[in-house]
Amino acid sequence: MSCQWSVIRATRMRPSVSCVAAMASSLAVCRLHMRGRGSLVKCLRRVDTFLHRHTGSNAVAAPGETLRKDESGITCIKKCIHSIVEYFLLAVEKDRRKSLYAVQTERQEQARRSVLISCPARTNEKKFLKYLSRHGDIKNYFFYESYGVYAVVEFANQESVASLLEGTDVPSISHESMVPFKSRLLSLKNLGSVDSPKQQLGKQCQSQTTPPINELIQRLSKEESIDQQVTSLTEAYQLTEENSRLRFLVCSLLSDIAAAYFPESIIKPFGSSVNGFGKLGCDLDMFLDLDGITGKRANMPQSDLSLEYQMKRANSERAVTQSILSVIGECVDQFGPGCVGVQKILNARCPLVRFAHQPSGFQCDLTANNRVAMKSTELLYLYGELDPRVRCLVFTVRCWARAHGITSSIPGAWITNFSLTIMVLFFLQKRSPPIIPTLNHLRDLAGPADQSVIEGNDCTFVSDFSKIQLQNNTETLEQLLREFFDFYATFAFSKMSINIRKGKEQNKPEVAMLHIQNPFETSLNVSKNVNASQLERFVALCQESSWLFQQSETNTPRGGKGGNTSTPWGLAAILLPSQVSGVKSRKRRKREPASERIKSLLESLKSNSQQKQKKT
Ligand code: CTP
Ligand code: MG
Repeated sequence: MSCQWSVIRATRMRPSVSCVAAMASSLAVCRLHMRGRGSLVKCLRRVDTFLHRHTGSNAVAAPGETLRKDESGITCIKKCIHSIVEYFLLAVEKDRRKSLYAVQTERQEQARRSVLISCPARTNEKKFLKYLSRHGDIKNYFFYESYGVYAVVEFANQESVASLLEGTDVPSISHESMVPFKSRLLSLKNLGSVDSPKQQLGKQCQSQTTPPINELIQRLSKEESIDQQVTSLTEAYQLTEENSRLRFLVCSLLSDIAAAYFPESIIKPFGSSVNGFGKLGCDLDMFLDLDGITGKRANMPQSDLSLEYQMKRANSERAVTQSILSVIGECVDQFGPGCVGVQKILNARCPLVRFAHQPSGFQCDLTANNRVAMKSTELLYLYGELDPRVRCLVFTVRCWARAHGITSSIPGAWITNFSLTIMVLFFLQKRSPPIIPTLNHLRDLAGPADQSVIEGNDCTFVSDFSKIQLQNNTETLEQLLREFFDFYATFAFSKMSINIRKGKEQNKPEVAMLHIQNPFETSLNVSKNVNASQLERFVALCQESSWLFQQSETNTPRGGKGGNTSTPWGLAAILLPSQVSGVKSRKRRKREPASERIKSLLESLKSNSQQKQKKT
């Protein structure tokens, strides 16, 4: 996927007829260089941002809005172009809204036609592709780096994969023994001559990680509005097309292992890998779906007789899940190429097998029979698709929380990303008018095909986007971010529970520091683990960020245009190390003024960039 921004970025001029012409040509350039829907959306957003910056106009004329007589011609043209961009954005966004089920089916099918190949860095790309094409057409491919260079290659047909595997050798190592388990994880051996550095693969590698926080702060500081900072953060953090493909491919490779016992099973990703809120580098939550194993008879003539499988019985469904995961976990450990550090955590509330998949760099959690979590994944996906502000705000709050150590990758008494996401959704339900509907409303809109009861829990909600009418809330990302901090800085955590089913806080049903009702298993609290000090830190940081946002020195973009280091401001300023860690309330806080903190970060950014320059 590529989209060239050179024309857009290079053209900096005051609003004029030539500017309008440049905008129009930018649109044309976008169209010419674009491949894929994701790029189209990005292109249009950039053009919109461009218009915003260069015309100084916030308002986007609604399609069909009549233009006032006293407006100058240039304003009319600007509004027209805004309208066209907006129209295309809406059309593309609407068209993009596939159900999670449809997205998953497409990706799973793509993954089955794909192989993962470890390549020596000196591999010549052309030669490599020509070699693979002997087995059939290649539909898509990309390279990435993780303990060496890897290629994900998607063939147009599954037969090509079979042919490729048939022509693949078993390694011949004399002093070691191999587990003879064949998978679609392969190694390329290059017996030919070494290629010139120009032809080597390292440069084409896709980044699979987010930028370090200091780099992100620098990048955000150069943006011209807080809205743009939020969008820029989301772009830097969200999963890329390639990373999503890789996640589905890893699930598909593991499905092949599970298929040795359960040929009709499938391993599916859930959680942030697919709910739209995943950040590059997030863990890969997977579940072994055994629902394909049904007892239904094929269409046979009616008879009084029938046959059924004899199956081993166990004491409970939990016991079945534990034994299946134990066996699959053992296979992953003993036979799974690239799977290391396998831990079976079978006595957890939700039994799981945890391991690292080295070739992809993913930390994996494999569960089974976890259909409620799949439903909450679908729900989060739906909320994220309803309004682009939802994802932007969730990414920003998650990044802010991580920057201040409110969340952690190590399990503990911290607030989790899942809890934070629900807190953002709840806040958006509480806006006036609400930005997203309550879960009860989504349940009321559900059709017969949406009915779902899992283990006695009502998991019904509408899946057809067109049935959901949103209210007209026009708040900007900047306003929402400020309000988010204000909202939770003063929320009555001691008495109230957060409830996205009702979209209203409820009296806490049990003693817990932070109570967030699980959307489907309504008797459970998703943040049961959070202790008093973690909640206090969260509240103190909300207070601090809210306060910082009220300071003019934080609110205004300062300096740094044209690539120089800029003073952190807006969102960048609230990502700076906080002074309130461990402090219980704002009143008792002794803090440096924000300007001092900003100054000291600026110094560290400068010295970093000077060190870099010295090295190069
Ligand atoms: N989940 C749940 N109840 C919980 C915790 C998790 O239903 N108490 C489900 C959610 O669907 C969640 C998924 O399990 O998205 C995976 O959990 P986790 O990995 O903790 O959260 P993610 O949303 O994947 O976020 P992260 O990026 O931190 O992994
Ligand atoms: Mg996860």
